[in-house]
Amino acid sequence: MATNKFSSLGNSDIKKYKNMMNLAEDFITQGKDKYFSGDNKYDELTPIIFNDKIKMIVSKIVDIAPDYKLITIRNERESKIALFNPGQYISVTIVLDRRIMTRIYTIVSGIKEAKLYEYSFIVKNDNNGKMSDFLYNNLKIDDDLIVSGPYGDFYYNELVDKKNIIGLSSPEGILPFISMAKAISDGDLNVNLKLFYSAKKYEDLILVDYLKGIVDNSEKIDLYILLSEEEKKGTIKGVITYDEINKIFDHDCSIFVSGEEGFLKYLNKELDKLKIPRKFIRCNMYKPKCNIKKVKAYLMTVHVGDEVFEFPCFNNKTLLESIEENNLYVPNRCHIGICGLCKTKLLNGKIKVINDRRNVNDIENNLICPCSTYPLSDIEIRIR
Ligand code: FES
Repeated sequence: MATNKFSSLGNSDIKKYKNMMNLAEDFITQGKDKYFSGDNKYDELTPIIFNDKIKMIVSKIVDIAPDYKLITIRNERESKIALFNPGQYISVTIVLDRRIMTRIYTIVSGIKEAKLYEYSFIVKNDNNGKMSDFLYNNLKIDDDLIVSGPYGDFYYNELVDKKNIIGLSSPEGILPFISMAKAISDGDLNVNLKLFYSAKKYEDLILVDYLKGIVDNSEKIDLYILLSEEEKKGTIKGVITYDEINKIFDHDCSIFVSGEEGFLKYLNKELDKLKIPRKFIRCNMYKPKCNIKKVKAYLMTVHVGDEVFEFPCFNNKTLLESIEENNLYVPNRCHIGICGLCKTKLLNGKIKVINDRRNVNDIENNLICPCSTYPLSDIEIRIR
C-alpha cells in the first residue's frame, strides 16, 4: 500500500491559517502596518529608490538666464528623498485654479543636494499659459509642490555604457546633459563627456552660458558648439554630421542623443554610418510635437463615470492639455506616451498619435495616451 508522504493538516494548522488571513485582511483593508516595522530596512531604502508623491517646499528661486529660473525644492519633512541618476526627471504636480496639473522636469542639481533633501529644476517663461509659465511667474519661496519619481532611463549605466560618452544635443534636449555635466563636475559621475551642442544661431542655444560655467570647472568635459546659420568665434559652422562625430569617435564610447523627434531621426541616419552596435546609442526624445500649421477646433466629449463633459479641443494641443484646461483629471506622468499612466478609451473620433508606443492590445481596444494624442476630428473618450 502506498504511504502518504505528507501529513494532513491538523486543527491547529487550520486555525493558524485563518489567523494569517485575518492579519492579511487587516493589513489590506485598514493599512495596519504589522509586517514592516520602523526597524525594517525597506523603510530606509524606499525613499532612496523612489518618491511616491511627497510634498516639497520651494526653498530657492534663482534667475539663471533671461526667461529661465532655477527652482530648488526641499522635502518639507527634511527627510530622505530618492537619489537619482543624472539625466532623470521628476514629476511635479500643482493645483492651479482647482485644476490639477502635472509636468516632468529634469533634475539639474547634484547628488549631494539630493542627500540634503533637495532637488533643483529649470522652468521657462514661454508665455503659453502652461505649467512652466505659471511656475516661472508665480512660484514663491515656501510654496509647496507634489513630487514623485525620479523617472527615465536616459542616464549613464555602468553595466551597459562605456566610460567615454559622446553627447549630441539640440537646444530642446540639453537639460539631461546639463544634469550629467553637473554630476561630472561635482565628482559624482566618473565619465568623460564630449558634448556637441547644435542650433541654427547662438541665440537659439538654451542655457549655453550656464552650461559653459559647469563645463569650465571640469577637465572631463569638452563642449563643441555647432551653428548652422552663423559664424562665431569659438564655435563650429555647420550641423552635427557623421564626419564631425567621426573626428572624435573611437570604438570605446557610448553615444547619447537628446532632442526633438526630427533631430533624433536625422542623427539616426548619421549614426548608422558609424556601424556600432545599437546598444551603445542611447536616445532621449524631447516632448514630441504635432507640427500643425493650421489650427482647428473640435468638440471633445468626455465620459467620467455617469457624467458627460463637453468642451473644445484643438489640433495643436494634446488631448490631455484640453482635459486639464477644463478642470478634469487623468493620472499622468511622462507626457511622452511611455509610462501608460494616462491610458484612456477612445470611443469615437480620428486622432494623430505622436511617438506611438501602444501595444497590439491597446490598439485593438482603442486605448490611447491623451498625453501624446492630438485630435483630427470631434473626439469622444471615456476616462473612467
Ligand atoms: S503620461 Fe505617460 S503615457 Fe501619458
